[in-house]
Amino acid sequence: MSDGNPVRREISATLITLSGAARMKKSYRLVAFLTLPVFFGCGGSEQTAASDAAPTAAQQVAAEPISAPEIDRASQRAAEVRQSVLKLISNNFGPMRNMARKEAPFDAPVVRKNSLRLHQLSLMMADAFATDTRGSDVVTEALDVIWETPEAFAGKIEALTTAAGALAESAASADEASILAAVGELGQKCGSCHDDFRQDD
Ligand code: HEC
Repeated sequence: MSDGNPVRREISATLITLSGAARMKKSYRLVAFLTLPVFFGCGGSEQTAASDAAPTAAQQVAAEPISAPEIDRASQRAAEVRQSVLKLISNNFGPMRNMARKEAPFDAPVVRKNSLRLHQLSLMMADAFATDTRGSDVVTEALDVIWETPEAFAGKIEALTTAAGALAESAASADEASILAAVGELGQKCGSCHDDFRQDD
């Protein structure tokens, strides 16, 4: 593949976007730190601990006696993060879906760019859903079964990652028919997870 540089550019763009998101979260953390020193005192630990299963709001409650509004705040932040990741996933998938439906002209550079982004975003899904918000009153379409059958949910995430990787590879080969077929495959992973884990409209 001769386009190593675009790949690197894509990754830096993702990192810049993420650092923007992290800055926003820091301001949340600052407020939380000032008002809830015991609960939020460890500041950045939520990011480093995420892959070792970040503590759920419920576990945090068990460790420290805190009040309902504070539980809600932790759940609210968790829901905002995962919904933001899915908004970005959708935003990057949309143009490719339109090409596959012949509602937009085929545009190979867009597919190359967006499939790499989707691959990266799919790798954030597990962390984004690590906080169990069952029982909280956050506005969410996430079904309880996500945290009841974590392995099944992880399998759906992995399917998304694999399909995004396959699309990125296909996009590099520049064969329009197979690229659009890979877009279709990827789209099925969205629907397949939504069927089981997202509330119907
Ligand atoms: C592993 C499961 C899974 C996969 C794969 C998945 N989603 Fe979702 N998606 C969810 C869940 C769960 C929610 C509800 C999140 C919430 O409301 O907290 C959601 C919510 C959304 C939302 C609403 C976000 C918002 O504004 O709150 C959009 C749009 C979306 N998904 C699009 C997509 C697209 C497009 C794909 C495929 C490219 C995709 N999703 C793949 C599970 C998944």
